Amino acid sequence: MLMKNKLRAVQHDSNVCADIEGFDFDNYSADDIAQVRSYWLQYGVLRFKSTTMTDEQQVAFSRHFGEFVIHPKQLQEGGHPTHKEILVISNAMTDGKPSGAMGNSEATWHTDTWFYERPPAGAILRAVAVPPSGGDTYFLSTYLAYDTLPDALKKSVDGRQIFFQNVYDKTGKLRLGKSVPSSRDFREWSGIVHPLVRAHGETGRKSLYLGGTAEGAWIVGMPLDESEALLAELWDHTTNSKLVFVQQWNVGDIMMWDNRCTMHRRDGFDPATIRIMHRTTTSGERPV
Ligand code: SIN
Repeated sequence: MLMKNKLRAVQHDSNVCADIEGFDFDNYSADDIAQVRSYWLQYGVLRFKSTTMTDEQQVAFSRHFGEFVIHPKQLQEGGHPTHKEILVISNAMTDGKPSGAMGNSEATWHTDTWFYERPPAGAILRAVAVPPSGGDTYFLSTYLAYDTLPDALKKSVDGRQIFFQNVYDKTGKLRLGKSVPSSRDFREWSGIVHPLVRAHGETGRKSLYLGGTAEGAWIVGMPLDESEALLAELWDHTTNSKLVFVQQWNVGDIMMWDNRCTMHRRDGFDPATIRIMHRTTTSGERPV
């Protein structure tokens, strides 16, 4: 008998994540992919628990969701030895050198590569090795962040543009290919301008687009002190949400998020333990 609709999404209270049950990474059809895609657009974040997915399967599965985006860290310590599509996030060392990106440090709330002209649409993150504690990953919905803004704040953000400098990363390191700017005013540095409220390219829903940090961000045309105060308020509103999904990893777990309507962060963890994640990233549209 032909099995139909074996896929199921079980939503979490956080409102931003659903567990996908019944997906077979060894044997799936175009209909299964279409169903996953529709859940991804509906929930923003999907989890596949305790899979046996391989690197090859991750690359093949990810390909269904768009062109690959090479993350800047893939060109540095986060490159995979045989799969150029994979970013290795790891604190393991090989011959005294990091064998992946990010070490054991905390990563604060962000959307991926917000400082690109076309930030990625999707990311698929798979746990290869997990520490006994720490290294949890948190997700929130930026649709919800926008929908729950008080009316006065909605009025202040609608139609506004936000400038993000793209010279330094969040840790203060120069980004690949950038040089120290001559001006002290970051608004004169190289950067990118995006809408502060973006409409999702597929669902059309509005979400708040804060990028990755309020530092080095400016609401275009607003006096800097007013922009800083408004951004602080928007960051508080967004990241103090109670509707956050917390992923406590097991080996084989996969989180798949829509970078156009979510933000994520991760906890640091004990450097004496090992955490290895393999991530693929797929392309997105220019935010509008
Ligand atoms: C990331 O920001 O993509 C990394 C998330 C994680 O390591 O949990």
